[in-house]
Amino acid sequence: MSGIVGYVGRRQAGPILLDGLKRLEYSGYDWAGLAVGSAKGLFVRRAAGKLRNLEASVRLEPVRGTYGIGHTGWAAQRLAGKAPSSTGGSVAVALNGRPRNLRNLRLKFRLGARAGATASNEEILAALIGNQADGGAPLEEAVRLVAREIEGACSFAAVARKEPGKIVAARRGLATIVGLGQRENFLASGIPAILHRTRDMIQLEDGDVAVLTAGGVRMLDSDARPVGRSVHHVQWDPLMAEKSGYKHFMLKEIFEQPRAIRETTLGRLDEATGKVFLDELGVTVRELRAIRHLTAIGCGSSWHAGLTAKGMIERLARVHVEIEYGSEFRYSDPLIDENVLTLVLSQSGETADILASQQLAHERGSKTIAISNAVDSTLADRARGAIFTKAGPELAAASTKSFIAQLTALFLFAMRLGQARGQLSAASSRKYARHLLQLPELVESALDLTDRCERFSRQCRAGKVLFLGRGIHYPIALQGARQLQELARLPAEGCAAGEMRHGPMALVDADLLVVALATVDEDDPGSRLRYEKTVAQVQEVAANQGHVVCIANEGDERLRPYAQEVIWVPPTCELLAPVVELIPLQLLAYHLALLRGRDIDQPRNIAQSVMAD
Ligand code: G6P
Repeated sequence: MSGIVGYVGRRQAGPILLDGLKRLEYSGYDWAGLAVGSAKGLFVRRAAGKLRNLEASVRLEPVRGTYGIGHTGWAAQRLAGKAPSSTGGSVAVALNGRPRNLRNLRLKFRLGARAGATASNEEILAALIGNQADGGAPLEEAVRLVAREIEGACSFAAVARKEPGKIVAARRGLATIVGLGQRENFLASGIPAILHRTRDMIQLEDGDVAVLTAGGVRMLDSDARPVGRSVHHVQWDPLMAEKSGYKHFMLKEIFEQPRAIRETTLGRLDEATGKVFLDELGVTVRELRAIRHLTAIGCGSSWHAGLTAKGMIERLARVHVEIEYGSEFRYSDPLIDENVLTLVLSQSGETADILASQQLAHERGSKTIAISNAVDSTLADRARGAIFTKAGPELAAASTKSFIAQLTALFLFAMRLGQARGQLSAASSRKYARHLLQLPELVESALDLTDRCERFSRQCRAGKVLFLGRGIHYPIALQGARQLQELARLPAEGCAAGEMRHGPMALVDADLLVVALATVDEDDPGSRLRYEKTVAQVQEVAANQGHVVCIANEGDERLRPYAQEVIWVPPTCELLAPVVELIPLQLLAYHLALLRGRDIDQPRNIAQSVMAD
């Protein structure tokens, strides 16, 4: 994914665009560009690397004008084209996503030297629009005609030298948001870019073309008919998109997790009865009862959330859940039909593999429910229903509060399904409701482990890390490993505890740290059994001279003789333990990365959600 921004009004556009790009840098930070227009023409600046390089270039050669567009992206996209931002001479374009057929369009429209064989996607797009505009079409018509020809998910914005004070944007599958100001208007691919400027926003629908001037915004559909689109007042607090004194967004977002759980639960759970209400689910009780099984699809952390949900749903609703990677499912021949409900998990709601998987699920007759942190996302828009997580904007690349909010939403869904299918008794509903409502406080107390985790990180000499978890703790072991890889760049792996002796035990040496998830729900015999098995695994690692850190319940002394460190977390029921035990793993990853001098919020080669076709 890349990020795009636009501004038209009375103020200087350059600083506003750079500020917007800064807030979108999480969606790609390998190159950036902008184009600012005035009566004198269009000024285009581009720079490879972090946004600060573009800022430096603008400082060196200032751009003046009251309207413009900008974008930021990541290196993989450069494979599709050589330049970060581009102009076809009279037109400049900012592009988000990867249109598939631009090279064919270049030939079809005989662009010749106007966009040569080595031209980037942006250059071809700008040339295509310029071509139409030179034929006499106004910019909005030129953009609309080109947008209609494009295949592959993208969105883009254009400005033209001969139409000063106007930005035209088109949505072809990827989120595009217009922000309404006072005699000024904004454009962005993500809400955080403009949240501090206005909270009144319009989400374009697929095929829409938006025409922005300082005086207003017009919307056209793909047939050039004027259309009205509703204005949403975004509830996110603009302060959530600021660092507010924290050294990194990631640390701030870790500390916002109790709030994310509270907000995601708010209004959805009746404390007295334990009944769950999910208003936007879009599926009737009858349909919930008729489901044969569920498929959950996600990428990265969202896949780990799906795997955790499998444990929750199978336990509380007694329905089988299949877990799929978006990047695999979309190219498969899945065994699903109208009797299978599909959960599509994506924090951004814009990950290309998930959107393509959703389409395939629909083609096979399955209804999809989106679990997303973005109310206006493409995924939610296309789904039959949704459960929105209420984590607020997450600006660090690592998923922390959005992951925890996903687990919260999925737990609510598991309860709802269990209730609809008569699998969850009234007494169990009340018990789980109590646990869920206590969860934010437990997470708050786990956050007190910050200093402890920092101290341990300082002592840690390991060159590689293995995370062990059993049952519902296994996906958290995977998540812990993934975060350590992306943040600290340490080789790390997650392993189902019982699999240790089938291979990974051979890795145990002085250079390996084993992190064992060993919490237990004392009221649950199954959990006690799994705990005993994990303890046995820890003992075996210790017997092989391995270094172990255990995440265990407060007061648990049993593991101490075998572990270099035992980190205590407050106990809860087994299905919610993943949320609490994840906190020290996040803090360890953060501190280990910090000590290694890594870029915390923008890890090398990693973007927050992935656009790949
Ligand atoms: C990237 C991010 C992950 C994220 C994944 C899927 O890999 O680093 O944190 O989980 O994309 O993003 P999505 O928005 O679909 O959840």
